[in-house]
Order: sequence, then C-alpha cells, then structure tokens
Amino acid sequence: MAGRIPDQFIDELLARTDLTDVVASRISLKKTGQNYSALCPFHNEKSPSFSLNPNKQFYYCFGCGAGGNAISFVMEHDHLDFVDAIEVLAKDAGMEVPREQGAPDRYEQNAELLKRLSESSQFYQQQLTQHPDKKKATDYLSKDRGLSGQIAKVFGLGYAPSGWDNLLKKVGTRAESQEQLLLGGMLIEKKDQPGHYYDRFRDRIIFPIRDSRGRVIAFGGRAFGDEKPKYLNSPETPVFQKSQELYGLFEAKQNTPILDQIIVVEGYMDVIVLAQHGITNAVATLGTSVNSQHIRKLFKLVSKVVLCFDGDKAGRSAAIRGLEAALPVMQDEKQVRFLFLPEGEDPDSLVRKEGKEAFNHRLEDASSLSHVLFDHARNQVTLGDEEGEAQFARNAMEMISQIPKELTFRSVLLRQLSDQSGIDSETLGNTVFKTRRHQAPTQGQEPTQQANTPLAQHFEGDIPDLSHYDYEPPHDAYGDAQYLDYAAPTSHTQNQGSPKKPFGKKPFSKGKFYNDEPALPPAAPSLSKIKQATLCLLFHPHIAKEIDLPDPLVNQANEELQIFCKIWRYFAKHPTKNTGHLLGETTDTTTMSAIYALLNHQDATTKQKISNAQQEVLDMISALEKNLGLNSSIERLKSRGNESIKDTSSKQELRNLMDLIRQKNGKYCLLFIQKRKDSVDKSD
Ligand code: UTP
Ligand code: MN
Repeated sequence: MAGRIPDQFIDELLARTDLTDVVASRISLKKTGQNYSALCPFHNEKSPSFSLNPNKQFYYCFGCGAGGNAISFVMEHDHLDFVDAIEVLAKDAGMEVPREQGAPDRYEQNAELLKRLSESSQFYQQQLTQHPDKKKATDYLSKDRGLSGQIAKVFGLGYAPSGWDNLLKKVGTRAESQEQLLLGGMLIEKKDQPGHYYDRFRDRIIFPIRDSRGRVIAFGGRAFGDEKPKYLNSPETPVFQKSQELYGLFEAKQNTPILDQIIVVEGYMDVIVLAQHGITNAVATLGTSVNSQHIRKLFKLVSKVVLCFDGDKAGRSAAIRGLEAALPVMQDEKQVRFLFLPEGEDPDSLVRKEGKEAFNHRLEDASSLSHVLFDHARNQVTLGDEEGEAQFARNAMEMISQIPKELTFRSVLLRQLSDQSGIDSETLGNTVFKTRRHQAPTQGQEPTQQANTPLAQHFEGDIPDLSHYDYEPPHDAYGDAQYLDYAAPTSHTQNQGSPKKPFGKKPFSKGKFYNDEPALPPAAPSLSKIKQATLCLLFHPHIAKEIDLPDPLVNQANEELQIFCKIWRYFAKHPTKNTGHLLGETTDTTTMSAIYALLNHQDATTKQKISNAQQEVLDMISALEKNLGLNSSIERLKSRGNESIKDTSSKQELRNLMDLIRQKNGKYCLLFIQKRKDSVDKSD
C-alpha cells in the first residue's frame, strides 16, 4: 500500500473545499432559501429531492438516502475510491497529497510494466486504423459483430496483425522494455533460444482489460475464425489476477449516467454489444465464475447486481456458484438477482435480436436470490412427504446459514423458509442445521477438502469444461473458497443418479428482494429504540403533531432523547415542514450530525418504508415512560397484550379519546391521554 494520507490533511482539504463548488461543477444546483436543491445524481427522479446545505457542507437526498460531504460526493458521483476522491479534490484545491511513510503500492511498484501495457494497447489500436491488413479486423468488428467504430474506441479495441514480432519491434525496442513485456505476458520466451522472445498475441482482435481506474492491465485476443483457443488471454501477472478483475467495469463507470445496478455477463463481446445498445452497465468475469470478491467489489459501487446466465445446464450450475458466492457477502439493502437467458442465446445475440427494451424487461424480471435459493433447495429433494420437506429445509438452511448472521435479509429468508416448510425459525436455526453439521462428517469425506469446496460441486457435477481455455483455472475459479465458511460439509450421495426436477419449475414466486415479503421482518435492530423512533420522525414528520411528550421525558439528560425531542418540537411547531427544512434551519451541529448519521444509517431505508412508524414512536415513548414509572392509558390498553390494541373495541376506545383531546387542544397526547381526559373533563 502507498503511504497513508494524514488525517490533518483531509481536514485541511475539507476546510479549503466548498461542497457547493464541487457539486455545482458536476450537476446543476438551484438555490432554495439557505440551501440548494437538485435532481439527485444518484437515482432517477423527476422532481428534486437532493438538498445541499452550504453552511454545514452536507448534502442529503430524501429520495435515495445518499448523503455526506465533499469527499463522499466525489466518491459516489465519480465512482472513485476514497484515496482517488481525495486526489481529485486536492488537485482542484491546488494541494499536494502528502503520504505518511509506507511501502509503495502494487501500481507504483509496477509503473514501468503498466506503461508498457498502455503502449501495447495504443499499438494495437493504431494497427486497427493503419495496418495494411486492417480491413480484415475492421470488417470482422463491423460486419461479423455489428460494432460501430465509436464503441470500438470506447473499449479501446485493437488489432494484433499476424507475424511473430510486431509488438516486440515496436514496444520492446530495449532490453528493459522487453523484460517488462515479458513480465506482463505480452511476449513469450522462445524455448530453444533463451533471451529471445515472440509476441503472444498474433492475428487476433485485441480487447484491452482495464482495471477499475482505467489502467490497461491485461489483454484478451479473439481469433478471427474457429481457431483455438477462441480467446487468448494474458496470463496472471503482477498487475493482473483474473479472478479479481471484471472486464468493462471502468467503461461502465465512465459511460453510465446513474450507475445503480451492474449486470455480470460471461463474455467480452456481451459487454461491448450491450453497451452499443445503450446498456452500458454490464461487466464480464474473465473466464472464471463470478466469485465473492467480484460481488463485494460491485457492492462498493452499486446496490443492485444482476448475474446473467445461459439458460442451459451449464448456466444453471454457474448460477448456483453465483448464488454461493453471493451469500457470504450479502448486505441488507443490497440485491443480487439472476437472469436466465433462453437456451442458445447470450446477451450479445439476444440484445441484437430483441433490442434494448426487451432486454431491459428481462432484467426487470430477473429472479430474486431467494427465488433461486429456494428453487435450488427444492430441486435437490429426492424424497416425497415429510422427509422430502426436511430435506428441502436442510438444503435451504445450509445456504441461508452462509448469509452473515446480523442481516435482516437472513431473517427474511428464514421466515420464508419457515413459511415454506412449516418448521418454525428457531427450530430451523438450531435443530435442522445442527443435525446436518453433525451428520455430515460421518459420510466419509475429508473435512479439509470439504471446507473449501463450494456446494455446487457437490450439487451439480457439470461444471463447464474450461480445458480449451489458455489458462489453468486458479483454485478459486469457481467461487471464493477463502470467503466461504462451510462449517457443514455436504454430501448428496442420496441424489446421485436420481432424476432432478428441472430448474425453474418454481414453487416460489419470482421477484425482487422483498416482493414476496409484504411485511417487514422483525428487525434485529442495530439502532437503539430512541434512534429508530427518531428516524421514524425524520421520515414521517406528521407523527410529531399526533403525539405529545410528557415533561419528565423531555427533561431527561439522555442525549439521544434530547435530539429526538428537538426534532419532535420542530415538527410539532411546523407541521408543514419536512426534514429538508429542518436540516436547513438547524444551527446546532450536534443535532445536525446526529440527523445525518441517522439518515445515512443502513436502517434508514427500512424506516422510510414502514407504515407503522407512528406506532413505533409511541412504543418507544411508552417504554421510556414505563422506565420512568409513569402510567398512561396507552399502557393500560397495551397491558392487555400486544394484540389487544389491534382489536376493534380498543382501537375505537383510543380513537374516541384522541378525538376528544384533538377537539380541545388541536393535538392529542396518547401517553397522558387518560390524565388529559380527566383534566379536560374537569375544566369542562
Ligand atoms: P464464450 O465462448 O461464451 O464466448 O466465452 P463469447 O463471449 O460468446 O464470444 P463470441 O461471441 O464467440 O466472440 C465467454 C468468455 O469466456 C472466456 C472469455 O472471457 C469469453 O469472453 N473464454 C472463452 C476464454 O477466456 N477463452 C476461450 O477460449 C473461450
Ligand atoms: Mn457470443
């Protein structure tokens, strides 16, 4: 790693940077009172919900929840990582980024190599326009593959003419550059003549592979006809580890105005042809299955990932590997879906046949992860009746248990499984899976090997044959063993030889993540009750005028509660105002940062969506009240059990009390409703 950037420098940089300038140079801002507003650059919208507070140097979008300071804006807008965003801002501010002492990073160490790779790429591109045989290449690209010159340019496509030393003579003119070209896999040493080299890529169309910052790190070369291998790729080099890179990621970041979803496809040509049809957000793995690192990398950039697979058998087992890669790196608010193409088609052929709209429809209809998971669990079942159900539950549990424990998504799936199997979640969590863990080692497989073996290899023996490719698949080509924590070795001996149900015969409905889940799961909240209630208030300000806070509560020293009360007071006083107004008008920085921290919290989206926000706020208050030893009618009602508040007569009772108070006071207090009612009665 390069030396760390000192914290003081970052503070200094932020102090010298004006967020308004940073944002205004990227999107168009409109002054609205003290603040600025704009159409949010991070999601699609028609009316502006992006707001920027120049005094506080914060921005926030009420539509999608994006928010932060100048650094986070540049990161998100320009699709840069933290360090790169700092570099960009520092450049604008005319500041040099200092580094604390540290070892140079991979790229600094390999600066020479990267330079030669970049020269190689330029050389191949030149050949496409200048070489006497260029027509062979341009005809192939335009006539056979239907690519425009423009898209060829975007992806830096080139031509490696036939001949053994074209690149060698042009870029490898000195011993040092030959050395670098050899290191970068561009040259191959002659077996019988050590120290003598020849070009690796000959008579091929060249696809430069760029890293996510746009640096050329490797190449793929496609044969013109049926020669083998069809695609020749750079070997692994100090700057290229194929299982970590995604072809087209840089281009997707460059050319997609709002990058909120990325499609992972199989081939170079799929990426390019999709881009030519306006679907610029596709990337391809480089001859390997999609692995956990890929998905983790994509989740840093976008919240939605669609994995695209052929509709054939190999595609289906690749999808299972994709599923397994996704499970351990899932996050709440992130989505992985699966698109199965019709048999015999790839994205390239399909988008050319059907066009962009139809392809986009397919994307919209892509199967949810839960759908694929349960479908797969179901397809493994060989027995009928209860035993089959137990098998199904075990299969599903094995996959679900790969999802990080703290995720709401995991509880959602558990609950779905519980609904599907009729086994309650707790039993599922304990008994079923533990039995499995316990049983597995007795089935005679070596634990160490199992621990690193993705389930798919057991489930479906039909991993595509990659032997015609020009490389040895690395040990992790089919998954990301290092991230998979298969505590439970699996054996599916009982499945062998038994006919499997066809994939896609679905007992479960398709759809996006929570589509099958109308109600929200019982959250394992990472926020305190007060903070959750505060979020509810921020997203549903109208609640404020519906409630009243008893003085003993308002006078509590608790800081979280103070912030809640402040927000409540503001909205109660200004019933037509929203959180944007609040942020614009608050001068107290503690409250301000607390609000931003909450709005940026991962639970924020959940709170934004809930329909029972008011109840949640009331519950929080009544819990506090209880702690304080206060008594209230809401308690009295609720003491009959949680359910009672839902029954019609209790609801009616509450409603009547509320109405009564509302008539008198313009607002009502559920907490002291009884007391109020008494006093109202008396004053009458
Ligand atoms: P495909 O064989 O599906 O090729 O390989 P494709 O993308 O449809 O290619 P066209 O349309 O015939 O040109 C998918 C991916 O697998 C890797 C490449 O990354 C390719 O894009 N591959 C394939 C190789 O690395 N070597 C090969 O020989 C074949
Ligand atoms: Mn193809």
